[in-house]
Amino acid sequence: MNFVGSHILSVSQFDRQAIEKVFEVADKMGPFANRQRVTRVLEGAILGNMFFEPSTRTRVSFGCAWNLLGGEVRETTEIKTSALAKGESFYDTARVLSGYSDMIVMRHQLEGSVDEFAAASRVPVINGGDGSNEHPSQALLDLYTIRKEMADRGKGIDELRIALVGDLRYGRAVHSLCKLLSLYNKLHFTLVSPPELALSDEYIEGIREAGHEVNLSDQLQSGIQHADIVYVTRTQEERFPTPEDADKYKGLFRLNQSIYTEYCEPTTVIMHPMPRDSREDANELDNDMNENPNLAIFRQTDNGVLVRMALFALILD
Ligand code: NCD
Repeated sequence: MNFVGSHILSVSQFDRQAIEKVFEVADKMGPFANRQRVTRVLEGAILGNMFFEPSTRTRVSFGCAWNLLGGEVRETTEIKTSALAKGESFYDTARVLSGYSDMIVMRHQLEGSVDEFAAASRVPVINGGDGSNEHPSQALLDLYTIRKEMADRGKGIDELRIALVGDLRYGRAVHSLCKLLSLYNKLHFTLVSPPELALSDEYIEGIREAGHEVNLSDQLQSGIQHADIVYVTRTQEERFPTPEDADKYKGLFRLNQSIYTEYCEPTTVIMHPMPRDSREDANELDNDMNENPNLAIFRQTDNGVLVRMALFALILD
């Protein structure tokens, strides 16, 4: 994979070598992210951060990653504050905004929207999430976290046992993560979801064709047994036809400390792309796990800055 000047639209662009390259550079970003060292390498450069769907972590960590490399960030949030609300096309918006920026990160509710935008952009574009399709930078930071957590436990990514829990149908973070994990060897996937929110056949076939074992389950307790990683997700309510359609699935799987103690291994790592839905009717990952040292969710969010700095560094050479 050639990073320089490239758009990052899908994890399908990555092979093992490219992933290793990102992680190698991410490892070097720690001192800058921790304020032990300072660089102004992106001085004068502008990131166009365009988030047309809600975002906390992805938007702010991309922005911070750029700032930590010395650059400035311009944000556009919400469609109603941009000319897209006046009927402007992605083509025109991309031509214009890429004249003002050195790189663009974009999130939008439509699948394929970021590809269409990138095709008209004069600068590299990173997909910050396009509908329920993909979220490449999230999957890279998740994999980076998995690699670190497993190394701390004397293991690697090969032969990993991972349980993916929740809305696997609409969860773009899961879609991208499954594709990346499929590049490794002999993994064991347990896909825990209500049947209506199962991972689509296309993804399951892709995982199986790559030589991994896949089991489907609609039971949290049995699904998470023996897992090295339990990756919990939120019901993606914004993707359902109506809020009531999503309500049916909220709260079906609720991981808390007592379930963890009874069914997980003492070293099982708990991950979540976040946000976790902490409202009472959902609460898929309870706050009573916050002190559990195997809860890696805030290590994931910290790692997001390093991985995003690495992507900027590689794309801008
Ligand atoms: C995820 C997303 O937006 O796809 N969030 C994130 O970027 N960390 C997951 C989610 O919203 O549930």
